[in-house]
Amino acid sequence: MQKEEELIQAAVQAREMAYAPYSQYKVGAALLGKSGRIYTGCNVENASYGASICAERTAALKAVSEGEREFESLAVAVDGEAPSTPCGICRQFLAEFGTELRLILVNIKGKRVDAILEDYLPEAFTPKRLAKGGRIHGTGDQ
Ligand code: THU
Repeated sequence: MQKEEELIQAAVQAREMAYAPYSQYKVGAALLGKSGRIYTGCNVENASYGASICAERTAALKAVSEGEREFESLAVAVDGEAPSTPCGICRQFLAEFGTELRLILVNIKGKRVDAILEDYLPEAFTPKRLAKGGRIHGTGDQ
């Protein structure tokens, strides 16, 4: 699928922008919105290590802050022997916008793993679990 290849390439390219002077572990992400737009992100580390942010959340923040809340798929690119998986914080962060999200995890040598977010975060705590009156994204219910 051409859009899929475009998404993977966008993640590989976004990885080049990673600011990872502490871990030297560069990650790129590309999130495909239902609108067809692609939002990219990289990890951005900080001298106060805990303030660092992952590539996946960078991409999601860019998307949501530009008005997109529904997503088809997310490509994540690393340079390792095997593709990586989103960290726990990113899994939770992404689950907010749908656990059906398709994940395309790649390394820059061309290895690929396909999954859905639900595989990595079963029984997720999502807006649906909040008490009556909690907002459900994508419904216009704020
Ligand atoms: N990192 C990501 O950007 N995404 C992941 O899925 C895993 C980890 C970043 C965080 C940190 O900058 C570096 O990789 C090493 O943990």
